Amino acid sequence: MTFALKIDQIDIAPATILAPMEGITDITFRKMIRACGGCGLTVTEFVNCEGLTRDVERVWEKTRCDNDGGPSSVQIYGRIPENLARAAAMCEARGAQIIDLNLGCPAKKVVSGNAGSALMREPELCRQIFHAVKSSIKIPMTVKMRLGWSEGSMNVQEIAHIAESEGASLVAVHARTREEAYRGHSRWHLVRPVVEQLHIPVVINGDILTREDAKNALEASGAAGIMIGRGMLRNPWLMLQIAQDLDGGDIFEPTLDRRAQFVNHYLDILENANDISEGGKLGKFKCFIGYFTRGLAYSTQMREKIYKTGSLVQLRSVLNDYFEILQTGNLDDIFDRVLIDPNNQMRFKEGDPRRID
Ligand SMILES: Cc1cc2nc3c(=O)[nH]c(=O)nc-3n(C[C@H](O)[C@H](O)[C@H](O)COP(=O)(O)O)c2cc1C
Repeated sequence: MTFALKIDQIDIAPATILAPMEGITDITFRKMIRACGGCGLTVTEFVNCEGLTRDVERVWEKTRCDNDGGPSSVQIYGRIPENLARAAAMCEARGAQIIDLNLGCPAKKVVSGNAGSALMREPELCRQIFHAVKSSIKIPMTVKMRLGWSEGSMNVQEIAHIAESEGASLVAVHARTREEAYRGHSRWHLVRPVVEQLHIPVVINGDILTREDAKNALEASGAAGIMIGRGMLRNPWLMLQIAQDLDGGDIFEPTLDRRAQFVNHYLDILENANDISEGGKLGKFKCFIGYFTRGLAYSTQMREKIYKTGSLVQLRSVLNDYFEILQTGNLDDIFDRVLIDPNNQMRFKEGDPRRID
């Protein structure tokens, strides 16, 4: 395989990374994405280092990577270097293969504690964090960041350089500032100077929804690999298709049936999960479906019904009705089209990741 990269000694082939997504990319979901093929690395949803150092079992649960089916990374966040270092060492002791540090989260609950993307405003603190974490582990450390805090402080080059000099093995960049949240479009070309400056692999992230997007993002940034979040929720086979495309092979095209199977399989797993409450299961699935149906035609009514649904059984029936409508309408290619649906737009506030601007 030619589209590949290395995180120290760990082969990431293909060079495709499932982006961390809180509430979605738990062990179950990551395994399902692996099973679709084409995924070189998975990352846990972000885990609060304070919860880990206090040994909260519920928080540890999020770091589980067992039998994920390939290389995986545990993403942690926080702002106190010693605590991040301790949490990283504890993750390593429990079997983590890679530690990823979150410098990209724009969420108020995280930045109000001056963690996540807020750290990019404090390069010296970043250095201390990278240094402390790297010194506490033998496994590779990677860092996920944005272009910077705001338009006036786009310091991704500076922070990425610090990360590399403190021993990071890979940098992933979501090509937006924190200020932009999810507005507008990722500016992939702004990552090129980072790629040209560093000696470690740089991965490009943001708004990769199609094979064409992947090619454009790689070309504009010069990055060694791609990281995809929401695009994988719309099309769980996207990384497989991208890898096949870049390697010049035949492209797997999932039928509507196959997509319906994926959704039903996810519902099966949730139904059988003993460690999640019914409310938790519904919340998880509704969150997933909000992205799965992002920009899809004829989905507004279906989503309206789903959001009002109080059980997984009802959810399944609404979804299967939707797939039947698509099938009878012979709309096999519907997932390849992103449509701006005005009703959908109104549902989501500006900057909401589910909105398409
Ligand atoms: C629901 C959701 C949860 C997210 N949670 C995390 C997270 O835990 N850690 C993180 O670094 N980024 C998180 N992100 C950001 C994604 O990893 C990614 O950087 C962003 O969505 C842009 O990539 P995309 O356009 O491919 O989705 C989250 C994004 C979404 C939509």
